[in-house]
Amino acid sequence: MYHKFLLAASRRAAFKRVLLACPLTRAVAERFVAGESWATARPAIADLIDRGLTVAVDFLGEDTHDAAQAATMVCNYLAILDNIEREGWAASAEVSVKLSAIGLRLPDGENIARDNVGQLAQRAREIGTVVTIDMEDCSLTDRTIRLVKAVRQDYPELGVALQAQLKRTEADCRDVDAPGARIRLCKGAYDSPAAVAYHTAHEVDLSFVRSLKVLMEGQGTPLVATHDPIMIEIAQELAAHSNRGLKDFEFQMLYGVRPIEQERLVDLGHPVRVYVPFGADWYCYLIRRLADSPANLLFFLRALLPTK
Ligand code: FDA
Repeated sequence: MYHKFLLAASRRAAFKRVLLACPLTRAVAERFVAGESWATARPAIADLIDRGLTVAVDFLGEDTHDAAQAATMVCNYLAILDNIEREGWAASAEVSVKLSAIGLRLPDGENIARDNVGQLAQRAREIGTVVTIDMEDCSLTDRTIRLVKAVRQDYPELGVALQAQLKRTEADCRDVDAPGARIRLCKGAYDSPAAVAYHTAHEVDLSFVRSLKVLMEGQGTPLVATHDPIMIEIAQELAAHSNRGLKDFEFQMLYGVRPIEQERLVDLGHPVRVYVPFGADWYCYLIRRLADSPANLLFFLRALLPTK
């Protein structure tokens, strides 16, 4: 329940002001956010790639309120793709994009965001990598899936995230599965109404397993985005049961979360991708990480305690 409280409190301006004014908040954010600019994030990305991991780079920012801001975000992503090309990282680094950051909530947002995704997917293809679309709160699920299916007509390699916390997700897995489709299954980090979402951790886990089973038996590549040891083990079993080899699915984890487990999976021969966010607009991302897990919240609370 604490996560509901945290997500609700985080929307209050006063709460945000207090948290951002605390110097330790920034220090904690550094565990989950690779830097505020490409220059500061680059060493972390290089280190992951050197250690045999791959990355999904996320430029932080969401809920764009005007078209110029959306265009700036697209430019930021194009610059990231240029950097990936310059570094020779196209085989190891993709980008992950929130549709609200590139215009989906604007009037005529679906058309604006579709054009923007097309532009990013085209540039990604030119340099030999791909784009994956993050899934945001449930008010955007229909529009996100519709847009992804439309852009996939030209860019079938476009990936999309689905959230096991939503009751619709098992059906969505069937709906978006296709040969070559890249589908990231996560539990879901947003607060959603009871009418559309499961609310106990057990129900979300059961939905995760059912959805994963659909993806493993499907025609695309399941991207298993979780730190949960039980879900990881079940993914390995479902993959074996569906005659998938180690390279026929991918584990994904967040930057700063369970790095030893990331390495263990790589040592077993699994492809493992680390989601690496960077940028100055890290507040909402940090809150979702604190809401994700008591372990993350404890890390934050410990940082607030005096050291002596
Ligand atoms: P959960 O938080 O339920 O934890 C289960 C278990 O995992 C814990 O009991 C513990 O054993 C272990 N664990 C978890 N965190 C730990 C920690 N910090 N230290 C030690 N052990 C820990 N969400 C969304 O809504 N839209 C999206 O597009 C994405 N995209 C995305 C990409 C990637 C690559 C990942 C990994 C995650 C996302 N998410 C997301 C976030 C996701 O929905 C979810 O909020 C978090 O991954 C937390 O859920 P878990 O499945 O990790 O397990």
